[in-house]
Amino acid sequence: MIERGEDRIDPALVLGRRIAVMGYGNQGRAHSLNLRDQGVDVRVGARAGAGWDKAESDGFRPLGISEAAQWADWVVLALPDESVGEVYRREIAPFHSSSGALVFLHGFALVYGQVVPPEGVAALLVSPCGPGTAVRTEFEASRGVTALIAAEPVSALDSARAYSWAVGCSRAGLVATTFREETECDLFGEQAVLCGGLAELARAAWETLVEQGIRPEVAYLECVQQVRLLADLIAFHGIAGMFERISDTAEWGAYQTGPRVVGSESRAAMKEALARIKSGEFAREWLAEAGAGKPRLLANRAALAAAPIEATGASVRDSAPTPYPPPP
Ligand SMILES: NC(=O)c1ccc[n+]([C@@H]2O[C@H](COP(=O)([O-])OP(=O)(O)OC[C@H]3O[C@@H](n4cnc5c(N)ncnc54)[C@H](OP(=O)(O)O)[C@@H]3O)[C@@H](O)[C@H]2O)c1
Repeated sequence: MIERGEDRIDPALVLGRRIAVMGYGNQGRAHSLNLRDQGVDVRVGARAGAGWDKAESDGFRPLGISEAAQWADWVVLALPDESVGEVYRREIAPFHSSSGALVFLHGFALVYGQVVPPEGVAALLVSPCGPGTAVRTEFEASRGVTALIAAEPVSALDSARAYSWAVGCSRAGLVATTFREETECDLFGEQAVLCGGLAELARAAWETLVEQGIRPEVAYLECVQQVRLLADLIAFHGIAGMFERISDTAEWGAYQTGPRVVGSESRAAMKEALARIKSGEFAREWLAEAGAGKPRLLANRAALAAAPIEATGASVRDSAPTPYPPPP
């Protein structure tokens, strides 16, 4: 399922193109630098601000978004999913050639109709399984970050492979998927496990212990700070491999309590979350929230920052720093 090796990749599909990377944030910076190092004719399209200034300090001569769209054969949409639609309609579509390609780093904008490529313009998906910092540092270390790839029409998949080569992802491996599968799986994974589920689980466990009189720092060290250790064990050895590397007491307790904590109610909530993603309800709600200036997102962010668990976390990090290097 994972395509390894670069034999079937034709770099000429990308080396002959003029590629504009729109946005110079987390992913945009990494893609621009990697494309340049790989010998691709790349320009950065940006608005005035932090991204523009950073691109200049990295040696690019950025263009305005519409100017870059006019110059490019291929346009890379490294813009936030909630605003790419508006930028595309206003500043890219009227200027971009109708024979080029649009490169998406996540399928959200295409699947939920925010960007509709015109007739003759291929939609390529190259979604790295890691943050932009890793896309860049792995490239510099002659490695890469695995990417999910797709194309519409499917006949353009070799172009997605070639772009993956140009940003270093094919060195690690490529997984062919569809825009819809990538989008639904990504949204569900971050909501149910990686961001939503994990944070809520750790927080609920911490609050349970503190309510029962356990000191906040002790509860935090156990239920939050050690998450990284277990996550690394799973990443390197799988779930069964993690269980092999903990005590039998911990393993036995996990079999007893895990399925009770994540029981039928949690599984029903997961199904409901997936249904909301598939129907487009989640995307509609999020786009409306973003369009209104993100009031509820900002209120949630402020409430979490002021929550007691965060003060405890800060004090634990001060007095008992994690034995691992911090992530980039
Ligand atoms: N972050 C990840 O780990 C990751 C992983 C895989 C895929 N992706 C996908 O990569 C894409 C880009 O995400 P990102 O995390 O790289 O975004 P990001 O770090 O938030 O960067 C967004 C860039 O877009 C610019 N921008 C925002 N609004 C704009 C507007 N209205 N007009 C012009 N420029 C605008 C920002 O400019 P300023 O600098 O001026 O603010 C910034 O340079 C998304 O599709 C995302 O889903 C992200």
